[in-house]
Amino acid sequence: MLKRILIFVTLLVLASSATSNDVAQKDKILSINKELPGGDFVLYSSHGRFSLKQLRGKVVLLYFGYTKCPDVCPTSLATLSQALNELSEDELKSVQAVFISVDPERDSFTALEEYANYFHPNLMGVTGSESEVAEVAKRYGVEYEKVVIEGSSFGYGVDHTAVTYLITPTGELRFMFPHETPAFVVLEAIRYLLSNQD
Ligand code: NI
Repeated sequence: MLKRILIFVTLLVLASSATSNDVAQKDKILSINKELPGGDFVLYSSHGRFSLKQLRGKVVLLYFGYTKCPDVCPTSLATLSQALNELSEDELKSVQAVFISVDPERDSFTALEEYANYFHPNLMGVTGSESEVAEVAKRYGVEYEKVVIEGSSFGYGVDHTAVTYLITPTGELRFMFPHETPAFVVLEAIRYLLSNQD
């Protein structure tokens, strides 16, 4: 239990220091941070226009990736769904996870929805034009780049920042979890935000 609390506290500290100006680049979690503005954005899902603002009152998890990602996205999203699976029906009403595709060229809205639903019913998939996605990614400090995969039938892969973002019910970017953060840490952070609403 103590170990759990310590990990959580460490992440809390990292997350809060990540919003200050003078963050030293001493950790992977911080190296992507350049005073991230985060904030509202508009993209699209199979149900049409999606605005982050629609999710006010909910704790939002954000993750950037693409459906053909060979292992990083599936691992991150499996962890995310593991955390969501621990939540009660009631808690789930106040939590929404959003998968943002950085590969709009290949990720259709239908493919995105299927992919997201496969992981969890509370995970939705959104994307937009190349420039719309690029603008949102920039505000969250997400970098991505197409890379040719030799001998792959997919043609190309997309290297991308694999961070799970937690946004408060008031729309503020609060936590950033690096790849391979254990599900229980994400879960505790979700519950922390659910019980500490402004
Ligand atoms: Ni990925």
